[in-house]
Amino acid sequence: MRKQIAAANWKMNLTVEQAITLLDEIVSKNIKLSENQEAVFGVPFPYLLLAKDRISDNKNYFVAAQNCYTKESGAFTGEVSAAMLSSLDIKYVIVGHSERREYFSEDNQTLSLKVDACLKNNLKPIFCCGESLEIREAGTQNDYVETQLKESLFHLDPSAIKDFVIAYEPIWAIGTGKTATADQAQEMHAHIRNVLEKKYGNEIAQSVSILYGGSVKANNAKEIFSKPDVDGGLVGGASLNATEFAEIIKSLKS
Ligand code: 13P
Repeated sequence: MRKQIAAANWKMNLTVEQAITLLDEIVSKNIKLSENQEAVFGVPFPYLLLAKDRISDNKNYFVAAQNCYTKESGAFTGEVSAAMLSSLDIKYVIVGHSERREYFSEDNQTLSLKVDACLKNNLKPIFCCGESLEIREAGTQNDYVETQLKESLFHLDPSAIKDFVIAYEPIWAIGTGKTATADQAQEMHAHIRNVLEKKYGNEIAQSVSILYGGSVKANNAKEIFSKPDVDGGLVGGASLNATEFAEIIKSLKS
C-alpha cells in the first residue's frame, strides 16, 4: 500500500525554543505509526538537525526541508543545495510550494531542476501543485494542475515517479480557513492520479502518495483523509500546535 503521510510545513515560524517545545510535545504523545504511515516535519533550515535529533526515537517520523536550490554548490550566497541537505541525512524536501512560486518567482521549469537536484542527491521531493481562486472560478483547475505536473515532472523516468509524493494545495484554501471539501480534494486527486496513469501506467500511478494541503485541521483531517485518493496532508497553521497536529497524524488511514 502506498504511504499515508501527515506532513507539517512550519513555513517561516517559531524560535528555536518554540521549535523544541513543539517537537517534544508531539513526540511525548508517543503516536505509533504503522508500516505505511509517516509523520514528516518540514522545518526551517536552521532547525533541521535538531528536529531530526528530537524525533529520532520515533519510527516513521522524518524531517523535511522547505526548499533547496537547483545548483550543487558555488557562489550563490544564501542558498542551500540538495547536496547539503543530503549530507544531513534528511529524507524529504518540499518543492514548489505556492508561496515559493508567488513570492520567489519559481516557475515549472525551475521546479523541474529542483526536483532533479533532489533525486540526484537521494532526497524525496514533496512536489506541490494547485490552482489560484481565479483559475478555480474559471473552472480550468484540472488543466492548470496537469500542466504543472507535465512541466516539472514528466521528464522523469518511471522509476523516479514510483513512490513519489505530490501535495495538491489549492491556493484559495491555504491559510484562509476555507478548506476544499473532501469531495473537491478527491476529485482533483483522482485527476492527478489519472494524469500520472496516462503517462506512467496504473501501477506507478497507484504508488504515488497524493497529499492534500489547505486549512487541514484536527476537526476536518479524518474526513478529507478518508477519501480513496487522498493519502494524508501537508499542514501549515495547524502543524504549529502539538494537540492539533497529533490529531491530524492520528487521522491517517492505516
Ligand atoms: P494551512 O494549513 O495553514 O492552510 O497551510 C497549508 C500549506 O500551505 C501547507 O504547505
